[in-house]
Amino acid sequence: MPEKDILMVKERGQTVLVVDGGGRGSALVHKYSLSHRVSRILCIPGNDLNGLNSKKPVKIYPHLETTSVSQIVEICKKEKVDLVDVNQDNAVEAGLTDELIKNGIKAIGPSKLAGQIEWDKAWARDFMKKYKIPQPKYHVCNSQKEGITYIKKQKDGKWFVKAAGLAFGKGALPAENNKRAIERIKEMNKFGKSGDTYVIEEWLEGEEFSLFVLCDSISYHIVGCAQDHKRMYNWDLGENTGGIGCSTPPLVVAPKVLRETDRNIIKKTVDGLKKEGREFKGILYLGAIIVRGKVYVIEFNARWGSPEAEVLVPAIVNDLFVVSDAMAEGRLSKIHVRVDKKARVAVTLSLRENPTPVNSKVGRRIYGIDQVKLIPGVTLYGARVSKKGNKYYAGSGRLLHIVGEGKNVIEAREKAYQAASLFSVEGNNLHYRTDIGWRDVERLRVGNA
Ligand code: AMP
Ligand code: GLY
Repeated sequence: MPEKDILMVKERGQTVLVVDGGGRGSALVHKYSLSHRVSRILCIPGNDLNGLNSKKPVKIYPHLETTSVSQIVEICKKEKVDLVDVNQDNAVEAGLTDELIKNGIKAIGPSKLAGQIEWDKAWARDFMKKYKIPQPKYHVCNSQKEGITYIKKQKDGKWFVKAAGLAFGKGALPAENNKRAIERIKEMNKFGKSGDTYVIEEWLEGEEFSLFVLCDSISYHIVGCAQDHKRMYNWDLGENTGGIGCSTPPLVVAPKVLRETDRNIIKKTVDGLKKEGREFKGILYLGAIIVRGKVYVIEFNARWGSPEAEVLVPAIVNDLFVVSDAMAEGRLSKIHVRVDKKARVAVTLSLRENPTPVNSKVGRRIYGIDQVKLIPGVTLYGARVSKKGNKYYAGSGRLLHIVGEGKNVIEAREKAYQAASLFSVEGNNLHYRTDIGWRDVERLRVGNA
């Protein structure tokens, strides 16, 4: 770490609180544990595997909701927390960062107002329109009738119908034609209040990537890109999940694409938020799609993605506490943020039933964790796994993320899959995709990178 960065944070023995329950939280805990400044880490709600790679003590609060704002503030006071890293969408919506700051507790994570860019997709689309940020054609609707009338006036096409509010990453429903779009509109009520307002948007065809920006409300820094795999099964088949594997760096994001994305999207967004009095402090997450060489916004989020954080946070060379502290204090431009040049692939393990409810299968033994955590070039980030004694049990949804690293995506993915093959879940109930990173593997194999 450059000497001037060290001088920025003089104190030792800092306590950090990470607000997240999944693999993203595990990756952040691991990185904070490597900081010379940090002596212990709290995680709300956290999970039993948060401490798997941690060099420092980790305390979790498994029964606490990330939206329990006043309780979290009390814990911060009692435990003398020095810095809170808010990384869960519903905590942002609940105004956790605002309340922490009001109580004199240092925090990164956007304010409720700045986070509206994630928790209100209708507001976000109108914001992008106002600031001329490239996006698909869209229409915001407040009733079933409004959406159906709109679709009936359009010529037959492909659409996405999206709940405006938070929906656990499952609120975007594809519709291959107008008839299907009307069915999707009728499904919006399954999202409760989150689906009261919804957005109908043109289905863009192209290659997607996600991009992550550190923001301190004054300046910003693009820290990296990844390519998520959202569908449950190989070759992008099956239902959308929150993300079931990813790779970095995506070769499709050539320097020219990155420059265009910065100029046309990121700068306009950060400046626009400032103009609206919604200064953004935290991680701005762009979900983007490239259509005939031009980049469009699919969505913005106000936090790290998962499993993207699991491949991008380890790439940060700096002491994460120093970087986060600078973000909290508006000194990001003084820090030279560096990332390593390794490729990383995350393979996400789930039960076969993910993302459908799996209550009957919850509690099955999971085997392989202790063997895999010792493989060089492989890091395990736990999510929905509980530990009793020295045994591990699967929960529902995403269980674990295996991250392999190497000099390119082929090497990184080989590592990840070598580790994945050592896992099993009682009842032959383990699922993972076997094609993560396939686009770049093919590009490298045909020499077309
Ligand atoms: P979201 O919940 O908005 O991230 O959407 C989930 C996934 O649906 C995205 O990663 C895309 O693959 C797809 N998607 C959403 N909106 C669009 C769109 N307008 N055009 C094409 N694909 C989309
Ligand atoms: N991987 C997608 C997300 O975190 O929303």
